[in-house]
Amino acid sequence: MTTNSTRLFFQQFRRDFFHMGAVLPSSAALGRAGVAYLAQKQGSVRVLEAGAGTGSFTREIVPLLQPGDTLDAVELNGDLVALLKQRFATEPEFQSRPGVTVNLINADVRSISSGQYDYIVFSLPLTNFPPALVEEILTLMLARLKPGGVFSFVKYIFISRFKYLFSRADVKSHMDTNQAIIHAFAAKYQINQRAVLANVPPTWVYYWQKPMTNDQ
Ligand SMILES: C[S@@+](CC[C@H](N)C(=O)[O-])C[C@H]1O[C@@H](n2cnc3c(N)ncnc32)[C@H](O)[C@@H]1O
Repeated sequence: MTTNSTRLFFQQFRRDFFHMGAVLPSSAALGRAGVAYLAQKQGSVRVLEAGAGTGSFTREIVPLLQPGDTLDAVELNGDLVALLKQRFATEPEFQSRPGVTVNLINADVRSISSGQYDYIVFSLPLTNFPPALVEEILTLMLARLKPGGVFSFVKYIFISRFKYLFSRADVKSHMDTNQAIIHAFAAKYQINQRAVLANVPPTWVYYWQKPMTNDQ
């Protein structure tokens, strides 16, 4: 994690807590956990990264890609995309092999309305979002996943509980509904979860897989 990245991330956190959801970029340990299934890939793959930020997951994804693979890295915040472009231009971890396609997309992930991905690495702060948006985004992500594809996403271990304790009744109700939505998806798709303590704050990584059959 570079000083520039950390500084810019923190500035954006202060400007837009709703979309950023974190004070610091994810750690290298969390980055590696996010790509654990991608690291076992076989054959050519298409990868979607949702909420690339300053590139904590991107820098783990790029070295795993082989000729024929594609990464679409989507980030809403133009300042973070500008920094990511600079990292792609200058940092060794961001140099892809010949034959790998990397698309850096400055957009809302909800605009990714077509295409199918083998892996989706997702780090949007779902707990900040209203329930209708959580439902919309998770439904879209599962629609964009190929059968057999793996969706990984991160969720802070303590922060939500802490926030819950000190929130107004209406916020508590939103958080309860969000939990129920996430649990309903997890009941259908979850194949694994892992705690990453070497991150500020400690974080769960959840792995969901879309079944190969049509009975989803
Ligand atoms: C918790 S940060 C994670 C950043 C980075 N992946 C990391 O782990 O350090 C969430 C990121 O998602 C981005 N984001 C939030 N809502 C988004 C949306 N609807 N579409 C695309 N990116 C979004 C934010 O701008 C922010 O960079």
